[in-house]
Amino acid sequence: MERIFLVLTVVWLSAVGGRAQQNGELWPDVGGKHINAHGGNIIRYGETYYWYGENRPYRGFTTEVGVEVYSSKDLRAWTDEGVALAVSEEAGSDIERGCIMERPKVLYNAKTGKFVMLFHLELKGCGYEAARVAFAVSDTPTGPFRFVRSTRINANVWPFDYTAKQQKAAMKTDASKWEKWWTPQWMGETQKGMYLWRDMKGGQMSRDMTVYVDDDGRAYHITSSQENLTLLVSELTDDYLDFTGKYNQIAPGGQNEAPCIFKRNGVYWLICSGCTGWEPNEARMFRSESIWGPWTQLPSPFVGEGGYHGFAANKTFGAQGTYIFRKNEEAGTPYVFMADIWNPRHLSESLHLWLPIGFEADGRPVIRWQQQVPD
Ligand code: GAL
Repeated sequence: MERIFLVLTVVWLSAVGGRAQQNGELWPDVGGKHINAHGGNIIRYGETYYWYGENRPYRGFTTEVGVEVYSSKDLRAWTDEGVALAVSEEAGSDIERGCIMERPKVLYNAKTGKFVMLFHLELKGCGYEAARVAFAVSDTPTGPFRFVRSTRINANVWPFDYTAKQQKAAMKTDASKWEKWWTPQWMGETQKGMYLWRDMKGGQMSRDMTVYVDDDGRAYHITSSQENLTLLVSELTDDYLDFTGKYNQIAPGGQNEAPCIFKRNGVYWLICSGCTGWEPNEARMFRSESIWGPWTQLPSPFVGEGGYHGFAANKTFGAQGTYIFRKNEEAGTPYVFMADIWNPRHLSESLHLWLPIGFEADGRPVIRWQQQVPD
């Protein structure tokens, strides 16, 4: 019976959108083209899922098109809905074609009825120096989104629970003195808030990022800051279009990137990568009972063999996380870890990897390789 069902599913999927997607392979949309939406996220609105991601070029790595959006009723057959947020043709615009838009995440704001997009923005011709977060907004899930602004974050504000003593210690540091990184002294200064202090006036850096909407509708932005050394979690305003100014640090000096977060039974789990560019590395995991911490670091949740091209658990199976989502909360479908297997030679062909998250008896997440894409 199960076999017949499987055969029928495959036949049906072939009819609507080619073969069922497999981890480690290209994922065709209903038009037969690989899904060009990387570093992104998925939201459900009504009965439809929307997948937003970086539209990447086949050659080169700057953004020539913008953020792409796909729609699906079943998370399998994806229709390309086109460009949700387009680059600008205007010289000098923050999002001028040739800028870098990364890790776009869209949120639906139930209060305003608007779709809000946050993404990591690098200005054209400036490498990764700008380190900004950008906001865009739309009345409909497929856009077009209107670019609002890009900014550094939390200028002139200390993390909300930073004591007077900590502030004093940070103010004594001087980042310009340290040419050599990774010495114990340099790490000591970094953990004292050396980069936090350096960027206090101009605003904190924001590169790899994600967003999270809590049960009460409050949204948070989590980002790699301070030269990718420290994560910041910052509260967003009610309309999700700005920061309230309340923020905190996670793992100062821990060098975490690609943050992905979910909550289960009142516990927040944060799964990140290390910083090795497009190369896969070992994931890191943190646990907290409050979004504001304290966050406790635990071993990587990835276990076992398998993986893409022989990359086992200690290399996150060849991938880097981008988002954690659930098809149907009420139906209890699994939490799915969504990741990118980067292909820096042809970024548009970077692969997608979705793995279900399992749980140990003590609630700890565990992620094993499987080729089949979970629901
Ligand atoms: C990765 C990061 C990606 C992208 C890439 C560029 O570490 O997670 O989003 O920025 O570096 O080299």
